[in-house]
Amino acid sequence: MTKRSPQGSNAMQRTLIWDVPTRLFHWTLASSFVGAWLTTGSDRWLAVHVFLGYLMLGLIAFRVVWGLVGTHYARFASFWYGPRAALSYLRGVLHGTAARHIGHNPTGSLAIYILLLLTLAVGLSGFFTLGGEEQQGALSGAMSLVQSRTFKKLHELTANLMLLVIVGHLAGVVVESFLHHENLARSMLTGTKLAAPGVPTASPRWGVAILMLTLTLGFGGWWFFYAIDAKLDQARGESEGAHVKFIGAKLADNAVWRDECGSCHLAFHPNLLPSRSWNAIMAGQAQHFGSDLGLEATAKATLLAFATANSADSQQTEASYKIMRSLKPADSPLRITETPYWIKKHRNITLVQWQSAPIKSKANCAACHLDAEQGTFLDAAMQIPAGPSAPKASQ
Ligand code: HEC
Ligand code: HEC
Repeated sequence: MTKRSPQGSNAMQRTLIWDVPTRLFHWTLASSFVGAWLTTGSDRWLAVHVFLGYLMLGLIAFRVVWGLVGTHYARFASFWYGPRAALSYLRGVLHGTAARHIGHNPTGSLAIYILLLLTLAVGLSGFFTLGGEEQQGALSGAMSLVQSRTFKKLHELTANLMLLVIVGHLAGVVVESFLHHENLARSMLTGTKLAAPGVPTASPRWGVAILMLTLTLGFGGWWFFYAIDAKLDQARGESEGAHVKFIGAKLADNAVWRDECGSCHLAFHPNLLPSRSWNAIMAGQAQHFGSDLGLEATAKATLLAFATANSADSQQTEASYKIMRSLKPADSPLRITETPYWIKKHRNITLVQWQSAPIKSKANCAACHLDAEQGTFLDAAMQIPAGPSAPKASQ
């Protein structure tokens, strides 16, 4: 749309400022941030959360390249202002005197650089947390659970800082839009702004945008249909030779344990309770939750040796580490389902769900954890079965 003027030459014209790849970058990054934020609450969404994290790291890498070779307004050179310029522009905004910028203004530019750095920090600290706490990703096995706590704190801190800067950025967009009577958010969608003739214009660069989309969708397809599936198969023990190895070391197994402890219920893996609990359970085997296990001395010794060597004290898994941290030194619970960590992790499951036919007991871990037999309790292996006896609204 062109504002008409008799001469025509000095009229403001709708001009392409933001090329398609820049806009695609902007909105994908923004929605990834929202998605990642929304998937922090539950471990069941971790696979999505991690995908968005990798995607954001990829987007940052793209933006750095595009800042060097992209179209005019996407280049760093076009918005390379120092902090002093940012502050004086902010002062101008407060006095209502700030000049309109076709590209990024100095304050907005500073926010962009801070956001790029923060996204990098959030992504990398998340990558380290994943390797340590979840024993997943390229760093699995390279870091301990204790070391990963520092990265997790850093991950949360940088994510919160990022939220803060985003709020500032949004406030800036609103204020600027009012100040200069233009809808900046819409410009980031359409790519155009009213500009005097002769200012540099951008070209759409559809080819690059289509390449970005293809890479993102390809990565998403691979991640959700192949990598996660391979991980699940591996967790279920179905496919030993999965190409993608996301899980940590396989946990120790013992035939006597499976035999003696797997007949009435799941043979709970020893990493779910401390050795003092296993000692108490073995000592009380003649009155085990109403049954006499009738174990002979040699079997008892074998079982106890296996249990204590692989107990939660050895902190081989995220579960064992966190169960230990949730217990007081004097606690030796006889149930996994009575440890504070277990209770906290399952507090959102309703009574109706617990009582539904496929579950029935809290100790029926395998109903919801596909890898309960292996004892790994991976995030991607969780599901809550829809029980036939769960009441439905109407039928
Ligand atoms: C004769 C059947 C039987 C055998 C064999 C048996 N258990 Fe149990 N066990 C039970 C019952 C019943 C419960 C209570 C289950 C419930 O509350 O749903 C239980 C519960 C448990 C729990 C607590 C589960 C929770 O709620 O966190 C642990 C731990 C446990 N058993 C360990 C063992 C070990 C170790 C062995 C092998 C030495 C073993 N059990 C063998 C019957 C058995
Ligand atoms: C009704 C289904 C259900 C049953 C039965 C169940 N769980 Fe869970 N469990 C879940 C869900 C859902 C989560 C994810 C909680 C969340 O949103 O973070 C979870 C989380 C966990 C976690 C945390 C995993 C992580 O990576 O943070 C552990 C460990 C765990 N469960 C162990 C057990 C054990 C051991 C048993 C059996 C004694 C058990 N669960 C029984 C549904 C169940």
